[in-house]
Amino acid sequence: MADVSLRNVSKAFGDTEAIKDLTLSISDGEFVVLLGPTGAGKTTLLRLVAGLERPDSGSIVIDGRDVTKLEPAWRDVAFVFQQYSLYPHLTVAENLAFPLRSPARKLTEDEIRMRVAEVAKLVRIDHKLGNKSTRLSGGEMQRVAIGRALVRKPAIYLMDEPLSSLDAKLRGDLRLELKRIQAELGATMLYVTHDQIEAMTMADRIGILAEGRLVQMGTPREIYTEPANLHVAARLGQPAINLLPADLIADAAAPTGTKTIGARTEHLTIRRAENGHAHGTVDWVEHLGDQNHLHLTVGNRKLVTLTDPDSLFKKGDRVTIQLRAPLYFDGAGNRIAG
Ligand SMILES: Nc1ncnc2c1ncn2[C@@H]1O[C@H](COP(=O)(O)OP(=O)(O)OP(=O)(O)O)[C@@H](O)[C@H]1O
Ligand SMILES: [Mg+2]
Repeated sequence: MADVSLRNVSKAFGDTEAIKDLTLSISDGEFVVLLGPTGAGKTTLLRLVAGLERPDSGSIVIDGRDVTKLEPAWRDVAFVFQQYSLYPHLTVAENLAFPLRSPARKLTEDEIRMRVAEVAKLVRIDHKLGNKSTRLSGGEMQRVAIGRALVRKPAIYLMDEPLSSLDAKLRGDLRLELKRIQAELGATMLYVTHDQIEAMTMADRIGILAEGRLVQMGTPREIYTEPANLHVAARLGQPAINLLPADLIADAAAPTGTKTIGARTEHLTIRRAENGHAHGTVDWVEHLGDQNHLHLTVGNRKLVTLTDPDSLFKKGDRVTIQLRAPLYFDGAGNRIAG
């Protein structure tokens, strides 16, 4: 495994600037997740590292070696693509063995068989080694695709939303497995996704990608508690952070220059207004099983927060709202330390 860095990398397709002056360092053995919406430049970034695209400017260094002008084959990366990309006519075992059969490797059949068995076990597909890859469920195919990358020990693994086509249960399981595998192998991993849960649960560090720019980089906790701006704050948190005009709910602690207050569930204390003053009204209570979403109207704004399922709020209740150390943003959308 190795450390990887991108220095001032830019890439345009015609008028579309897909990656803009992006600088990023990944340490040996680190799991970095880039989080961004569709079109943010995630796939382009991975293709640049893999050598499937050439940057217009900037450089890419893998394990101390400038690979900017090297062909993909010489970069020592393994790529898991956004869509399944198995060889349909081959069995699971043959798919897994494929990257090991390159003439450059000179592995014996025994060595290949051992490595395939090892990886099949790792991604829990060892019971299907003889199956044709078309005769697998979506989740199994994706496990083979991940296994086919893991069968090699490259400088870095590049993963392009490998779990996005799977159902929620399987996605949850594979998320944990990938994290376990990465830790076991001490693998350097650059993983891109639009799924905030994947980013929060797997990453050593998260990078927030927006319109080809790396907006902020930090540990999941840093990104969540100290977002640089409104954009980053809105990317993380379930339900999404409530962004409110500074004067909607009185907050004596708001620093001067505050234009917007960012209030997540943990920043809000909601109480039923016994009599007299209320800030807002309960619109509805959404039951999710282990918790409830409480939907409120405050002035002309809608707010969503979590409550525990035993809370007795109901539609029409008038409530008071207290803010506890929320996030503050200035007129340009940048966070002001509270
Ligand atoms: N080969 C190409 N030719 C022209 N434009 C491209 C090409 N590849 C990507 N783009 C454009 O570059 C931008 C970034 O695309 P990219 O595929 O990297 O986004 P993404 O973050 O992976 O999105 P998604 O989440 O939908 O996969 C988009 O505006 C896209 O239309
Ligand atoms: Mg993509």
